[in-house]
Amino acid sequence: MEPSPKITPDSIRGAKARGERIAALTAYDYPTARLLDEAGVPLILVGDSLGMVVLGYPDTTQVTLAEMRHHVAAVARAKPRALVVADLSYHTYETAQNAVANAHVLTQAGAEAVKLEGGVAVVPEIKALREAGIAVMGHVGMLPQHVKEDGGYKVKGRSAEQKEQLMADALAVEEAGVFALVLELVEPEFAGEITSRVKIPTIGIGSGKHCDGQILVTHDLVGAFPWFRPKFAVAKADVAGAIRAAATEFVKEVENRS
Ligand code: KIV
Repeated sequence: MEPSPKITPDSIRGAKARGERIAALTAYDYPTARLLDEAGVPLILVGDSLGMVVLGYPDTTQVTLAEMRHHVAAVARAKPRALVVADLSYHTYETAQNAVANAHVLTQAGAEAVKLEGGVAVVPEIKALREAGIAVMGHVGMLPQHVKEDGGYKVKGRSAEQKEQLMADALAVEEAGVFALVLELVEPEFAGEITSRVKIPTIGIGSGKHCDGQILVTHDLVGAFPWFRPKFAVAKADVAGAIRAAATEFVKEVENRS
């Protein structure tokens, strides 16, 4: 049997026209990337959610480019068939010039595309990245890198004003050349409206079922971060429970000299 072809930004973009749904997950290390790839996940995001679920920060704003590079390299060593997308961390894309320079750090570590948060405001950075030959995934709606200004993780797209801004953001980043668009915490019916207006696939997180795909933080999906899980994420495993049980059994065996 022919091996399945490597997934590219163009194949993800084309999924919408082919009527294929996109099931994306995050990975921050080599074994998780291999396991997700073996499960057939087409898009692996080395998200800056790394900050919370791996590095123990309160939010994503403390994640550095060096930390992102370190984890992108680990994921890339798995040589997945899946497309590897890496988040440009907070304050690494404030100008078009530093967006390109910092994205190169991630692509040199093995990222095949980068993601950045924002709409109209980041169009110059997206255009510069595209001109430098770097594939870009967009991210609008709730922007975790702005959680402090926003005062929490709040659903977007309920008021007429927010709807107008969100649609303008989605259309602007599409026009600037992103190959797919994450919609985070967007009111589900409005996420559906955005999905039908744009030609690129939308990938929702906490934005309902009308998006072209869904993305989750893998720790939420497998129950590996039991101290916090967003309401929209349903855990399909209890990795934290399995680790605790195995460690407890080991402690007992050692104490009993068994
Ligand atoms: O950092 C992240 O993991 C994300 C999400 C879209 C899952 O940006």
